[in-house]
Amino acid sequence: MSEFKQTFNSSLGKKLIMALTGLFLCTFLIVHLGGNLQLFQNDEGYAFNVYANFLTHFPPIEIVAYLLYVTIVVHTFYALMLTVKNRKSRPVKYASVNKSPASWGSKNMGLLGSVLLLFIVIHMGDFWYKYKFTDSVGFKEYKTNVLTNKRTVNDFKPQDPAFEHSFTTENDVEIVRVKDLHTKVSKSFKQWWYVIIYVIAMGALSFHLLHGFQSAFRTMGWTHRKYTPVVEFIGTWFFAVIMPLGFAAMPVFYFFINR
Ligand code: HEM
Repeated sequence: MSEFKQTFNSSLGKKLIMALTGLFLCTFLIVHLGGNLQLFQNDEGYAFNVYANFLTHFPPIEIVAYLLYVTIVVHTFYALMLTVKNRKSRPVKYASVNKSPASWGSKNMGLLGSVLLLFIVIHMGDFWYKYKFTDSVGFKEYKTNVLTNKRTVNDFKPQDPAFEHSFTTENDVEIVRVKDLHTKVSKSFKQWWYVIIYVIAMGALSFHLLHGFQSAFRTMGWTHRKYTPVVEFIGTWFFAVIMPLGFAAMPVFYFFINR
């Protein structure tokens, strides 16, 4: 077996792959949270729909999206291999005295990851799949007077079944016709059980990242007397608190506020 293959088949190699793919997924989450903040705008979905349209029609982003899907599969696959290997080599559980949230997270990464995987399957099935591969998502037409900023919104029924989007300007009126993912998201977030699934999944995300973000840095050997506390601070406050709260706030907000 080549040295390269041996490294990536060893436990350390598998952990390195977990760390690298995990950090890539963390980067995706930052961008995803930032983009989805458009949902809080009171503009009948204009900013969110234009953003979703941009994501699916800008080729460099489409390439990164495919890299993201591969990363999710690789991260899951290596997590499974490591969990099975650890179970086999340690059949008797360690007695534990440390009850901190971080150590609870570290011992349950497999369970937390499985909850997240289930969430991602439900989530992508409902939004991403329906948006890209079905005609269950309709279209909206936004007409904005560029001089007064006044906007009117209508449902739009394209004549051409292959129609995807259009951006035109006629007599100082900007006309944007795009798929209406906003209405789909809004309808999903009006169902109480949907909101509960999201809130539970964001709890799992919090504990998963509380351990995972800092652990990735340790696995990569990126530890430093001065910078490790900064990584721990970011891992705890940004990834385990602000980010899950930000994501969970979206379904909760739509459930209680009529948009
Ligand atoms: C609760 C707040 C969230 C909202 C409102 C939301 C919304 C969306 C929407 C609308 C899409 C489809 C976008 C498109 O294809 O253009 C999407 C895709 C996706 N979401 Fe989320 N999301 C949320 C949280 C999450 C979380 C926490 C994760 C991961 C743990 C996640 C993972 C994904 C993935 C992997 C995709 C497919 C990526 C792509 O192809 O663009 N989402 N999300």
